[in-house]
Amino acid sequence: MTHKESPVEEISATASKTTDQNGAGKSAQQKFYLPPEELAQNSNIMAYAREKGFASVDELYQWTIQNPQQFWGEMATRFLDWYQPWNHVLDESQAPFYKWFTRATTNIVHNAIERHANGANRDKTALIWESEQGEVRRFTYAEFAAEVNRFANVLKSQGVKRGDIVTVYLSRVPELLFAMHAIVKLGALHSVVYGGFSTDALHSRILDAKSRVVITGDGGWMNNKIVELKKITDAAVDEAGEVVEHVIVVRRTGHDVMIKEGRDVWYHELAAQPGMDEPCATEQMDAEDPMFLLYTSGSTGTPKGLVHSCGGYQVQVATTLSFTFDIKPDDVYWCTADPGWITGHSYIVYGPMILGATQVMYEGAPTYPNPGRWWEIAQKYGVTIIYTAPTAVRSLMRFGDDVPAQYDLSKLRLLGSVGEPINPEAWRWYHRVVGQNRCPIMDTWWQTETGAFMITPNPTTPLKPGSGTKPFLGIEADVLTEEGQPARQSDDGLLVIKRPWPSMLRTIHGDPQRYVDTYWSRLPGLYTAGDSARRDEDGYFWVIGRIDDVIKVSGYRLGTAEVESALVSHPAVAEAAAIGLPHELKGNAIHTFVILRQGYEATDALAEELRKHVGKEMGPIARPEAVNFVPNLPKTRSGKIMRRVLKARSLGLPEGDLSTLEG
Ligand code: WTA
Repeated sequence: MTHKESPVEEISATASKTTDQNGAGKSAQQKFYLPPEELAQNSNIMAYAREKGFASVDELYQWTIQNPQQFWGEMATRFLDWYQPWNHVLDESQAPFYKWFTRATTNIVHNAIERHANGANRDKTALIWESEQGEVRRFTYAEFAAEVNRFANVLKSQGVKRGDIVTVYLSRVPELLFAMHAIVKLGALHSVVYGGFSTDALHSRILDAKSRVVITGDGGWMNNKIVELKKITDAAVDEAGEVVEHVIVVRRTGHDVMIKEGRDVWYHELAAQPGMDEPCATEQMDAEDPMFLLYTSGSTGTPKGLVHSCGGYQVQVATTLSFTFDIKPDDVYWCTADPGWITGHSYIVYGPMILGATQVMYEGAPTYPNPGRWWEIAQKYGVTIIYTAPTAVRSLMRFGDDVPAQYDLSKLRLLGSVGEPINPEAWRWYHRVVGQNRCPIMDTWWQTETGAFMITPNPTTPLKPGSGTKPFLGIEADVLTEEGQPARQSDDGLLVIKRPWPSMLRTIHGDPQRYVDTYWSRLPGLYTAGDSARRDEDGYFWVIGRIDDVIKVSGYRLGTAEVESALVSHPAVAEAAAIGLPHELKGNAIHTFVILRQGYEATDALAEELRKHVGKEMGPIARPEAVNFVPNLPKTRSGKIMRRVLKARSLGLPEGDLSTLEG
């Protein structure tokens, strides 16, 4: 290898409490990993601190907390253009329905694409896309803009207009990005459904959003197999009844699919019609107009469409990406997430493009055709920043240090992690073997709801493996007891955000009361995240995990209710419960408990059939690890399944307060 070893300085810090799953405060050897001095000094965030006359990012942070509106206002002009300026940065009069940048007008597509396509970045590479099979497609900002413009004209020809909600169900191809931008260009909202989900998830989301237009593909590639996107779409659209009028089909695999006359149209045929390359106007949106819906799992089975806004969303996405991942003009950035999840929305589809960055997107599985595929991609394109999930780090770590060592990763300068707590062992491996002791790891804590990073290191932060360190500029977070008191140092408590932030969700589609109840009612005036966390003696945050009915499997967010409803849709199942239990690679795995209907026998074959059934209904990621047949389920007197009792029993832990348990 060509690079130098270990320029990292490590200093011992004081010991704190003993072990837990995260390694939070793990005994004596706890260390800070200091970022390389040059990286810290030359970072975008440090440049801003100096501009403001501060000697450190800590001082800058204090100022942003005292002057949040001034700070976010400065960010809004630093990173974005606006058609009309705002009259207030924040309007709190209808809390918790906060409004940001009131009366300003904007469109993220102008900021992410058009100003680059018409400016100095015109011929700069925006996107390098590589398929699993090794095909490569590259787009400059000008080419990207032309694709988006054409897609927008096609959508317009199908009647899409401002305020419509278009459901998008595609694999990880550039057309997914074009489609999303095209929808937003027209002032419509996208609702992207992850291409790994299946009929049930797609159908319920189409229905809730009442999408008249759905964009899908004939299929997608994953692990050298075709994912039957069109077949799944057909079933979902049929189930959704009369709602869907047009299905636009992007050709990708080229295999035979059904095209329903009068409903389905090939994208490439529409795009070839006259006039599709004419300029299509970009709608000027109010900052508070909704920009997109993203469905996510919550405590009940009904889909929860989180609504994000046109203005504040882009401000925080751009600011966090610039100050955390330190994007510079010659960086080659690679976020391995799927564009169908919030990480992909914020940090593939929009963030990097607002900043005029060059990014890599890879369609397939990390280990196809061999476990070096990711490192080969990083070498080939000279990737400087990798942003991925702990589950990927853990699974690649299994193949040993030798695999990354075969590739030249010397261009890498920063690494990132998201989606679940990263265990210190995986963190250290990522830091030592991938980052060659040179690249700080940005362990970013945030949520679909928050839209952008909330707790994260920056390139000047001394790191501790497994901790997201401290809140981002302008963000105030805390760990509180159930009663709303500050939790004692190193005690678990509820992770809360103490004030609104620009990229926060604005409401839940069609159910504003649920927005208030879910996020703003547990502790009045505060946003409760649904995570438990603790703070150590240095004020560093350690996120422990979900405390509600969300299960994070390989970083993917799933709901117990969705798994349970998939199970009871099988004729053999009378009742079902799902819980998450720790899993070495996946972080958590789904374990289920099933009461059978009369006449069905508890056999291994049936357990296997049920696992497959959930996989088919919801998508492969939701396939349970285990199906346990049980005669009854622990329930409260009001009939609610006590999942925490199942969890405690499975882990051999005390079952806690059972006073509400039935009989
Ligand atoms: C978890 C993903 C620890 C957390 C962006 C949160 C994390 C949920 C981290 C949101 C992290 C995300 N460390 N836990 N760095 N990042 N989480 O909506 O439980 O898919 O509440 O958004 O993921 O998941 P979501």
